[in-house]
Amino acid sequence: MKPIVIANFKEYLSPKQSVLAVQTIRRSLGRSKKFTGIVCPSPTALTGVAKALKGSFILFGAQRFDVTSSEAATGVIALRDIQTLGCKYVIVGHSEQRAAGETDALIAKKLALLSSTAIVPILCIGEPLSVRKRGGAARYVHTQLQKDLAIWKGKKILIAYEPIWAIHGHGKNLPCPPQEAFRMAAVLRSGLRKQGFPPKASPLLYGGSVSSVSVADYVDGTSFVGVLVGHASCKPSEYVRMVQKVL
Ligand code: PGA
Repeated sequence: MKPIVIANFKEYLSPKQSVLAVQTIRRSLGRSKKFTGIVCPSPTALTGVAKALKGSFILFGAQRFDVTSSEAATGVIALRDIQTLGCKYVIVGHSEQRAAGETDALIAKKLALLSSTAIVPILCIGEPLSVRKRGGAARYVHTQLQKDLAIWKGKKILIAYEPIWAIHGHGKNLPCPPQEAFRMAAVLRSGLRKQGFPPKASPLLYGGSVSSVSVADYVDGTSFVGVLVGHASCKPSEYVRMVQKVL
């Protein structure tokens, strides 16, 4: 499988900066078919990024969508709209969204809705520091996986292991040692196997303060086939370097 490098721009970049960033990435890497490049800009930047990446091998996705039962819903991001814009991926269950109220039950519902679309979910799984400190990390991610995937019926899903304490701006600047990330990848893989998801249909990614310095330590092609990168991905030259390091 080709290495996957996902840029999660979060709210770091304005719509204009997001377009400039993807234009630079496209110029530098847009012809390479040796990796899967995915950019997830903020919701307000999606239209511009979609236009800037038209016809490119670099794909784009949404950072989230909402479940709505009516069009009378102010301020939501509809699945229909991200489909229309051409999103091939969407992030679900990011710890920043979980902290804002995205429960496992809601995540399962979102995944069920995505099952009948061509959009591939990027499901984020990861434990907080308090859980890790009391030795419960493996059980915690296992439970998340079980609940979130309970009614998933789609063909392909990307699973990103993102220990919350290792995420830039949230953690305690504690990088997750690669060996520990690999140990957690084995926990996730065994959970996925028990739930009937073969590795090809559920590749694992690592996320949490990844940069061009550390990216090659995580992407071994076996435990992790790629990375989900926030802060460092917002600098196009850094994104390009990360891709070059995993090719
Ligand atoms: P980070 O974010 O690379 O800035 O730590 C990763 C993520 O939250 O997806």
